[in-house]
Amino acid sequence: MTQNSEQDRVLIFDTTLRDGEQSPGATMTLSEKLEIAEMLDEMGVDIIEAGFPIASDGDFEAVSKIAAQAKISVICGLARANFADIDRAWDAVRHAKRPRIHTFIGTSPLHRDITKLSQDEMAERIHQTVSHARNLCDNIQWSPMDATRTEHDYLCRVVEIAIKAGATTINIPDTVGYTAPRESADLIAMLLERVPGADEVIFATHCHNDLGMATANSLAAVEAGARQIECTINGLGERAGNTALEEVVMAMRVRNDIMPYRTDIDTTKIMQISRRVAAVSGFQVQYNKAIVGKNAFLHESGIHQDGVLKNAATFEIMRPEDIGLTTTNLVLGKHSGRAALRAKLKDLGFELGDNQLKDVFVRFKALADRKKEVYDDDLIAMMADSASDS
Ligand code: KIV
Ligand code: ZN
Repeated sequence: MTQNSEQDRVLIFDTTLRDGEQSPGATMTLSEKLEIAEMLDEMGVDIIEAGFPIASDGDFEAVSKIAAQAKISVICGLARANFADIDRAWDAVRHAKRPRIHTFIGTSPLHRDITKLSQDEMAERIHQTVSHARNLCDNIQWSPMDATRTEHDYLCRVVEIAIKAGATTINIPDTVGYTAPRESADLIAMLLERVPGADEVIFATHCHNDLGMATANSLAAVEAGARQIECTINGLGERAGNTALEEVVMAMRVRNDIMPYRTDIDTTKIMQISRRVAAVSGFQVQYNKAIVGKNAFLHESGIHQDGVLKNAATFEIMRPEDIGLTTTNLVLGKHSGRAALRAKLKDLGFELGDNQLKDVFVRFKALADRKKEVYDDDLIAMMADSASDS
């Protein structure tokens, strides 16, 4: 198989600023993009897809400025399969320490109908455009858009052409989130086996989440030999979004026993960038979103709170601090038990004996029945009432 000498290393390609920003309503300002790009660079993202330079002057400026500021990450600009797009992308990324051009064309029958290109004409276009890009830059990514709905023989043919023309990364997009884990793995395995030269390039997986399988499909592709995952912070992206960076990275870390791959991501920066992307894109993270949702590390039921207080591993498969959260949060409500109430009150400065706790627990249950969540201020007020009654 492929790629680097490091067989277990998976490159993280973040496209929050390109595919993520394409989400209707997620537009970011130039300064917001620069800030997010800096955070991505600092957290160890290997490749940042900074935008689509021909799309607008604003996109061009953002990609150029991100290219100029990047310290370590490769900076990538997107281009359709024509010389004007490719030249514009190159102009935007050329000043990066490590530039990349990413060029694509829809290869499935549906896309060939739209572009009105025959299989042969499209093959020729791919040869011309990838060769042109390679004459400008030695780091070229090529994507057959809608690859998961492209005939296998034709997909093998065009991937081979792109490799021969100089592509260094071949990205396999599941553009409409249509594939499933086994199929995603089989597709990568098939390409690695059938395409001459496949072992000279990196294969990437780029999944959308229309059926909720983007994370599973990306990881399945890695198990079959892909060594680059394309993803966005919080899974931001058109329709149901893209593969979420935090999910694939934490999955490979937490289940390294069965997915023995590593990334260079500093996971303690995950929470901070998740909050920032939510703020600047205006796309709030759902409460129960894996890894970064407000409730992902919250425990309310008495049994869970008790378990977490005794040994966090009972109900937590990762430590909150691994993603940059400082503590496990116990949220008190009607399902909470005495141990959690005692621990919470201790945090708030109230050390209770057993008898006192018994009395306070009755008051707490009555309060919790009236309120969905019992906040610290409610507890403090309750303790004041309890002191004045006794
Ligand atoms: O989903 C997709 O096919 C894309 C391509 C431009 C790679 O985002
Ligand atoms: Zn996409």
